[in-house]
Amino acid sequence: MAAADTSRVFLILIIALVMVIVVLLGICWRFLGPGIMRRLLRPRRCPSEVPEYFSGNMSGNLRTITYFDYVTLKKATKDFHQKNQLGRGGFGPVYLGKLDDGRKVAVKQLSVGKSGQGESEFFMEVNMITSIQHKNLVRLVGCCSEGTERLLVYEYMKNKSLDKILFAAADAPAPASAPPFLNWRTRHQIIIGIGRGLQYLHEESNLRIVHRDIKASNILLDDKFQPKISDFGLARFFPEDQTYLSTAFAGTLGYTAPEYAIRGELTVKADTYSFGVLVLEIISSRKNTDLNLPNEMQYLPEHAWRLYEQSKILELVDGRVQGGEGFEEKEVMLVCQIALLCVQPYPNSRPAMSEVVRMLTMKTDQSIPAPAKPAFLDRKNLNGDRDAASSDTATMEMMRSPAGYWMMTPSPMLEVDRPYDMSFGK
Ligand SMILES: Nc1ncnc2c1ncn2[C@@H]1O[C@H](COP(=O)(O)OP(=O)(O)OP(=O)(O)O)[C@@H](O)[C@H]1O
Ligand SMILES: [Mg+2]
Repeated sequence: MAAADTSRVFLILIIALVMVIVVLLGICWRFLGPGIMRRLLRPRRCPSEVPEYFSGNMSGNLRTITYFDYVTLKKATKDFHQKNQLGRGGFGPVYLGKLDDGRKVAVKQLSVGKSGQGESEFFMEVNMITSIQHKNLVRLVGCCSEGTERLLVYEYMKNKSLDKILFAAADAPAPASAPPFLNWRTRHQIIIGIGRGLQYLHEESNLRIVHRDIKASNILLDDKFQPKISDFGLARFFPEDQTYLSTAFAGTLGYTAPEYAIRGELTVKADTYSFGVLVLEIISSRKNTDLNLPNEMQYLPEHAWRLYEQSKILELVDGRVQGGEGFEEKEVMLVCQIALLCVQPYPNSRPAMSEVVRMLTMKTDQSIPAPAKPAFLDRKNLNGDRDAASSDTATMEMMRSPAGYWMMTPSPMLEVDRPYDMSFGK
């Protein structure tokens, strides 16, 4: 009899407990909202556990990174607060975050909802970046994929991206936030570092990788101004047995090699071209295309070539760099010439990145080949009889499309007199 009473009391207690839990859940649901409740009730994944979306045939070192919960990154970035936004690129904003252990990170929030491309970019980048490691490539700390949220977590680079420093004057920052000035030594070190990063991608990593979007905003600088190439989202695995891939155009106008922009012919030499343009930007502290400048100066490789032909290439150098710390005329001239070799019109005539690094680090009394004229916009034909104002509008219109950008250039093939000789200078 006593045993029956005990079990009845026990049953009543359990029923009461269940009812209290149900009522409490109901209250929470009402006040916190279904979104937060669903997230709270979802079973937690162990941070080291590889999520199921990586199963299948993806390669890469996926176990070396952390898989973050969305709430962890939300907390680290103070709810993705505007004040923590480091910048915004084609695939969404990037926020500064501080993890519980004190580490600073850069959290890239991909806009997956708006375009399917964002999601494939996510898989591509995680897979790519975990497969390769080099001191001149940015390191992926982890990622997050929850619902429609796709986030990439990178090591935070104290000196942000090169564009913010190089083009600061053009972008007119407030004096209080004026970025540091880079002397020639630092610029030279940055150029060599980018070259080494690209050499690794093209020739040394276990995969042959074309980055496809080498530009100033994709070069991040650590606390010692060591450069790190970022954004492998546009890169593609590059099969050994193929001379080029023909793909839909992706990249940034002004840095894009003519053969890739016009015909979609993609080789590692498209990166070499972009590197050449970037080096000219680093030397001159100006953007590759500036339609506010006089006609003959608007397009940087064209302007550099004219100065080179007239033996006045030092005029290209940022005035503040000239005569400053570590400035060496011969070295600067050598680097300018290497940049011009990289922007030659025919891909085969551009040097391989290992060759570029060799030339950048050799003694300045050694000689290197003379560059061929780069392909550039034929402004005389473009302008015709139109007045200056309307021709500028026409130029802008043309530059908005990849093929249009290069439409007025002579065919790269016509410019070629010899294929690139890998043994030159040895
Ligand atoms: N790891 C990082 N550390 C510090 N700042 C960063 C980091 N990653 C990105 N940033 C900043 O965020 C900005 C936006 O980066 P994001 O890569 O999204 O855009 P982008 O490079 O301008 O364009 P794109 O989408 O074509 O790459 C960068 O210009 C840089 O200043
Ligand atoms: Mg970028």
